[in-house]
Amino acid sequence: MTEHYELIIYEKKDGVATITLNRPKVLNALNSSILKEIWDALQDAEADESVRVIVITGAGDKAFSAGADIPELLEKSPFEARTYSIWLKDVLRYMERLQKPIIAKINGFCLGGGLELAMACDFRIASTNSRFGQPEVNLGIIPGAGGTQRLTRLIGRTKSMELNMTGEHYTAEEMYQFGLLNKVVPPEELDNATNKLIKSLMAKSAATLGIIKLAVNKGIEMPLEEALFYEAECFGIARSLEDAVEGLKAFLEKRRPEFKGK
Ligand code: CAA
Repeated sequence: MTEHYELIIYEKKDGVATITLNRPKVLNALNSSILKEIWDALQDAEADESVRVIVITGAGDKAFSAGADIPELLEKSPFEARTYSIWLKDVLRYMERLQKPIIAKINGFCLGGGLELAMACDFRIASTNSRFGQPEVNLGIIPGAGGTQRLTRLIGRTKSMELNMTGEHYTAEEMYQFGLLNKVVPPEELDNATNKLIKSLMAKSAATLGIIKLAVNKGIEMPLEEALFYEAECFGIARSLEDAVEGLKAFLEKRRPEFKGK
């Protein structure tokens, strides 16, 4: 586990672990070293029981992340580029099965691998000045970590094909219309909007949220019949929690539930 992060800022406060991509001079581009630090921080956040919600954001006021580090990509051999793509895939897959909500707080350019990172999060809140796209095609390459796959699942084939083939930039409002974003707010309201979501998540059972996350993320990869069975299994597990007894009782007793995450 990396103890001293150099390319990210990793903070834990009041149940929230925040990972800030911290290469503002290159618009928080994702090289192999920053990826390793993100991976370490995520593992720490998962293991730390005090962490309830994870936020990923970018340092500076210009970018969440402008994608994979282009000079590094040029240096890599095709085989090394494939290894990088698999490694990036593994980090993003880990985010999808890590049983805590992850919020992408998007504050500027969110392009290529940056958009792919945001798409592996559970929520995406963006400021109005953010810009989105899969511009890999302009570099003569293709997305290497879900741009042709997660994007299609999130916004559908028509718009995914358009983004991937034109490589153009889209506004936050457009991406909200396409269904990629949960919320779009002016830059000065980004913190408040994120905190409001965090507060709502904190009031729930952490264990129940973890089960919902897996039910959604695993279920979408299954045929409907199997997915519905999987949901029924998840439902049984959720019902077996102490928090389920607390939640059901609290409703009948007309009081707020006090969840313990058990
Ligand atoms: N990698 C490395 N450095 C990058 C970068 C990237 N992805 N994006 C920007 N930078 C660097 C620039 O080279 C520049 O550095 P210098 O000051 O040393 O010249 C600095 O960040 C600021 O960038 P610009 O001067 O270009 O800023 P701008 O405001 O004029 O333009 C931008 C901003 C439109 C985002 C433009 O920088 C850009 O198009 N960046 C590339 C975006 C891109 O193509 N991303 C896809 C990468 S490939 C990928 O992600 C593959 C994958 O799926 C894993």
